[in-house]
Amino acid sequence: MKKTCISGSGLFTPAESISNDELVAAYNAYAERYNAEHAAEIAAGTTNALPPSSSEFIVKASGIKARYTVDKAGVLDPSCMRPRIRKRGEDEPALMVEMGLAAAQQALASAGRAASEVDAVLVACSNMQRPYPAMAVELQYRLGARGYAYDMNVACASAAFGVQAAVDACARGSARAVLVVSPEICTGHLNFRNRDCHFIFGDAATALLIEPLDEARGAERFEVLGTRLATQFSNNIRNDFGFLNPCEQPPRRWDEVLFRQEGRKVFKEVVPLVSDLLLAHLSDLGIQPAAVKRFWLHQANLSMNQLIARRVLGREPSAQEAPVILDEYANTSSAGSVIAFHKYHRDLAPGDIGVLCAFGAGYSAGSVVLRRL
Ligand code: COA
Repeated sequence: MKKTCISGSGLFTPAESISNDELVAAYNAYAERYNAEHAAEIAAGTTNALPPSSSEFIVKASGIKARYTVDKAGVLDPSCMRPRIRKRGEDEPALMVEMGLAAAQQALASAGRAASEVDAVLVACSNMQRPYPAMAVELQYRLGARGYAYDMNVACASAAFGVQAAVDACARGSARAVLVVSPEICTGHLNFRNRDCHFIFGDAATALLIEPLDEARGAERFEVLGTRLATQFSNNIRNDFGFLNPCEQPPRRWDEVLFRQEGRKVFKEVVPLVSDLLLAHLSDLGIQPAAVKRFWLHQANLSMNQLIARRVLGREPSAQEAPVILDEYANTSSAGSVIAFHKYHRDLAPGDIGVLCAFGAGYSAGSVVLRRL
């Protein structure tokens, strides 16, 4: 078994960002219009009026201040409230592939590798634009990579599951260099008409290159000391969109096939799942939690991340120890922990230990323990 490392990382950030105030103004305009249109039912008590959203609530409950999106105008238009995406021809790159390509090219550049040296591409993310041909196979083609490619979906934990698959392939010699790409257009499955969750998600794409340690040459390499994955069934985060939707009798409502969650329950159940996973993984590797310089955690909720880091460290984490990107990006699903890694790894010294940890629907969780070379 060969030792492996992350030899490069990349990030694509969409050009347009939406502030909480802009999002709340759009939602409140929609709610006012809805309440006016349903005034009679609301007065008769047969329909509930929609209460307004607030930026203060969003920041306090989640830590989110803004989010990037592939189309700001559509999301903020109260008569649309979803990104408007131009339907592309079959010869054009799929939007997810285009985003993934930008992140993948950056990861290759930072690893000092050409696409032709890559022999596996995994697209690991929550939502695929289509079932097939696989996004990964199109990405492999447009990148000019060799070998094989496949899509995998383990919700917000997808990147950690992808890293483990890549590490296993490199360690056993079935692939020499593996790209794990996580393009997320989360705004496509977000119900912007639901006050409870309209602020949660944003769009972005990330990429990591995994290689055998003794062959990698990037300037910012991190040895993979270990990976550990866990899953535990829960209905508290669901997305019921699927190919059987049109066949179902009775048919589902439009808003039943978008993201929905029981946020409080998720918070309560995922914090122990993830902190126990991290503590057990570190202990089995013989690493004291105090020796971990950085936690690149999935970015869904600020208090949740602080609580997980506190349970692992036994004290309050500093901003450097558990960096936050969800204030600017919101929850970008599988991309979140990798964005944190991509933006906050350069200051670590050789020998420093960091943990990349992703978690989400399923439930699913993954821990990747890294040492800066
Ligand atoms: N503006 C103003 N008030 C709002 C609001 C909004 N946009 N959305 C909800 N509220 C209200 C609720 O109606 C509720 O009012 P009530 O107390 O009168 O009933 C109150 O604020 C609290 O709502 P609640 O949903 O319990 O808030 P919360 O503190 O649990 O925060 C989340 C909601 C989603 C931010 C939080 O639960 C969370 O992030 N959980 C973790 C989810 C997660 O990690 N998911 C992973 C996805 S991959």
